[in-house]
Amino acid sequence: MTTIIVQPSGTEIHIEPGDTVLAGLQKAGYAYTVGCRRGGCGICKIDVLEGTFSYCRPVADTVISEQERSDGTCLSCRAVPTDDVTIQLRDASLRLANPLLGQINARARERAKAASTAPEEQ
Ligand code: FES
Repeated sequence: MTTIIVQPSGTEIHIEPGDTVLAGLQKAGYAYTVGCRRGGCGICKIDVLEGTFSYCRPVADTVISEQERSDGTCLSCRAVPTDDVTIQLRDASLRLANPLLGQINARARERAKAASTAPEEQ
C-alpha cells in the first residue's frame, strides 16, 4: 500500500498500487474540484511536496510545462505515486464526500500500519 498525506490537514490516505492520486483519494471517499480526468485541462494540478510519482498515461504538453514537470507540479488525475507522497491541493479543498469509504480507508490504514510494525514470526 502507498500512503498519500494531504497538507495542511495531514490527512493520511492509503491507496492501492497503480491508482492515480485522484483515484486513490476518491476511493477513500474524498473529493475536490477536477475537470476532464484525462490529463487535458490542468484543473486537477496539485503540488507534490515529498515523494515521487510517474505518469503511466499521456498528459498534454499544453497542460503541464517542462518547468512544471520538474518542480513537483502534478496532474493528480494521471499521476501514480511510486512511493509515499505528501501533497498540497491548490485552488481546491479536500472534503470527505463519502464517510463510509473514509472509515473503510481508515481501517485499511490501521491494518497496514499494524502489518508493518508486527514482529516477524519464526
Ligand atoms: S482533471 Fe483535467 S488534467 Fe486532470
